[in-house]
Amino acid sequence: MNTPPLSAEQEALFRLIEDTREHVFVTGRAGTGKSTLLQYLAWHTSKQIAVCAPTGVAALNVEGQTIHSLFRLPIGLIADGQIDQSDATRKILNAIDTLVIDEISMVNADLMDGIDRSLRQARGRRGEPFGGVQVVMFGDPYQLAPVPPRGDEMRYVNDHYRSFWFFDAHVWAGDAPGSDGVLDLGRHGADLHIRELVNIHRQADDGFKAMLNAVRYGRVTAEIAGVLNGAGARTPPEDADEPIITLATRNDIVNRINARHLAALKGKEQKAVAEINGDFGRGDANYPAEAELKLKVGAQVMFLRNDQQSYGEPPRYVNGTIGTVTRISGGTVRVDVDGEEFEVEPAVWERYRYAYDPGSKSLSRDIVAEFTQFPLRLAWAVTIHKSQGKTYERAIIDLGSGAFAPGQTYVALSRLTALEGLYLTRPLRPSDIRVDPDVQRFMKGAVRGN
Ligand SMILES: Nc1ncnc2c1ncn2[C@@H]1O[C@H](COP(=O)(O)OP(=O)(O)OP(=O)(O)O)[C@@H](O)[C@H]1O
Ligand SMILES: [Mg+2]
Repeated sequence: MNTPPLSAEQEALFRLIEDTREHVFVTGRAGTGKSTLLQYLAWHTSKQIAVCAPTGVAALNVEGQTIHSLFRLPIGLIADGQIDQSDATRKILNAIDTLVIDEISMVNADLMDGIDRSLRQARGRRGEPFGGVQVVMFGDPYQLAPVPPRGDEMRYVNDHYRSFWFFDAHVWAGDAPGSDGVLDLGRHGADLHIRELVNIHRQADDGFKAMLNAVRYGRVTAEIAGVLNGAGARTPPEDADEPIITLATRNDIVNRINARHLAALKGKEQKAVAEINGDFGRGDANYPAEAELKLKVGAQVMFLRNDQQSYGEPPRYVNGTIGTVTRISGGTVRVDVDGEEFEVEPAVWERYRYAYDPGSKSLSRDIVAEFTQFPLRLAWAVTIHKSQGKTYERAIIDLGSGAFAPGQTYVALSRLTALEGLYLTRPLRPSDIRVDPDVQRFMKGAVRGN
């Protein structure tokens, strides 16, 4: 995988992770290169690491496994239920030096404690946080949060946790009951080293960076709102060779926008059906691309993968690049990106699972399922949730009836590389700027500038 050369602060964090056994939470504002550092670490570490993430799509992004499948945890709250481990799972968990978790902001406290308990149990080191495994987490709590619990689960969480955020898990406070279920008050919690990447790589303009910061912390003044709304209040150009993506709050809005644009195109609609081998989990949410991709010539599409065939040249497109379909024939689709046409072929996504090799006493990564589809999706619009982690030069931000999740407006705006690329379907309202008070409490004092 291609990553840019690390900056000095990224390099320092790589060394901290590589040279010590400390638990590290790598955080930082949008675009500070957290995911870039994770990818670098995955390729350059000499430790036995397992890379995982809370959702299937996030795991595929970092070529890792979902947390639930790595640990064989049950779906839903784990609470103090028994954790069943097969011999194979125990061996895998025993071979790990370092557990790397991406998108940690979407991991909840119950799951964090489930990971702790699983590792203690598998490794037979019940008195030691994470059974002695180093845990390295990447993410930004000011961006989108774990899916909130409901009903009985919510009542359980309210009774047992200060908040549902991973940082309020018992393992950090030292009040995690051992796997015998007994609370040992003499035990210390795991030490969490919080490190912030400070330099933003995605945006260059200091004024825009300061405005994004204000949105992040919920400190948007009338003046800042005026500048953002002034810049965004314009009609996006209609001509097709300047495709612009819409970032919207909800799936139904996104689907409606994409369907409307596709229907408006003349020409024949063609359908590509994905080939799925092995277990990819059921439901579209687990798929890395569309199960049924409907396209027409003229459709605005987004690449879901980096160019695999640039042979040492800079990649022709990356995950997130937007283009226009110019031809559909046989087994290929031609896509125009900035005036250049590429032949796109179906791509294969591989779902991995770690296995233990007793011979070499090391972990190997096996492919357990494959999903084959064109690495494209309709991209007149995507949800803000799906846009998390991405970079765009231009975007139309459609907050519709209002942002409903803390961090949602921050994620949307911070995808842009410059203010010149911003289009708003309506002006920002104060109620669109939401900051989670638990995040403020945790981040205050944890990192500077909060
Ligand atoms: N050291 C670096 N030098 C140059 N560019 C970099 C560097 N690190 C990251 N970038 C670029 O900056 C952009 C943002 O990086 P990345 O996606 O890793 O940030 P992030 O912190 O994960 O952001 P987000 O919180 O939005 O997910 C990417 O285009 C990436 O290639
Ligand atoms: Mg990222």
